[in-house]
Amino acid sequence: MLAVLKAEGISMIHESGLFHKTRREIFRNVSLELDGGKTIGLMGDSGSGKTTLARIMAGLEKPATGRVLFRGKDIAFLRGKEQGDFQRSVQMVFQDPEGSLNPRKSIGRSIHEVLGLLKVPKREWLERTSDILQTVGLSEELLCRYPGQVSGGQNQRIALARVLLLEPKVMILDEPTSALDISVQAQVLSLLRELQKNRGLGYLLVSHQPEVMRNMAHEVFVLNNGCLVQSG
Ligand SMILES: Nc1ncnc2c1ncn2[C@@H]1O[C@H](COP(=O)(O)OP(=O)(O)OP(=O)(O)O)[C@@H](O)[C@H]1O
Ligand SMILES: [Mg+2]
Repeated sequence: MLAVLKAEGISMIHESGLFHKTRREIFRNVSLELDGGKTIGLMGDSGSGKTTLARIMAGLEKPATGRVLFRGKDIAFLRGKEQGDFQRSVQMVFQDPEGSLNPRKSIGRSIHEVLGLLKVPKREWLERTSDILQTVGLSEELLCRYPGQVSGGQNQRIALARVLLLEPKVMILDEPTSALDISVQAQVLSLLRELQKNRGLGYLLVSHQPEVMRNMAHEVFVLNNGCLVQSG
């Protein structure tokens, strides 16, 4: 079986300095597979390259060497329908829930925007919106509010709702709960587990909290000194 998403021997180098270019290798020869129904945990010190690896797997950045395969095909060469498939199937969720939503758009509008992109007929918008709010455990009274007028946990659920409308196969979660209070954190994590069970989602979960990993991850990898190693 082909993995949904697979990093094959990727490395990343950042160049810095205007005159004397210094090249710094962030990590080298990293391979990783993501599949439905499974959570891969990714840990490592600050600056070890977790976000960089996450962004590369989501197709937001290009690796210096190696490749990322979506169902066996190099994402660098996807075009047309296959590229659209990849862009919907692989979604990234960021740490800062409020920042991932447009502050000038009401919650309702930012959900409708996704439905519009998906070409869902307008007459179905109300029903689809209320379904997805129910899925993430939010009430409809939030729809007319703006991101600054709801809590961090609610914002993260809204961000999840928008992403879920796209029916992704894997989600790349970069410290999705680290900006939230402990109790809210637990609620969002249990929502993620429930979604995984109901929808067969695969996750790449970046976190520096061992207890989050124990709770969520089927396998844990650590970025250390530029290498990815599996942790026991
Ligand atoms: N665009 C860039 N240009 C140059 N260096 C960069 C760039 N983006 C990231 N870096 C560097 O690459 C390294 C890895 O950054 P990254 O954000 O992936 O780390 P991280 O493991 O996610 O850290 P944290 O736990 O703090 O979020 C850091 O040293 C960072 O300064
Ligand atoms: Mg990071």
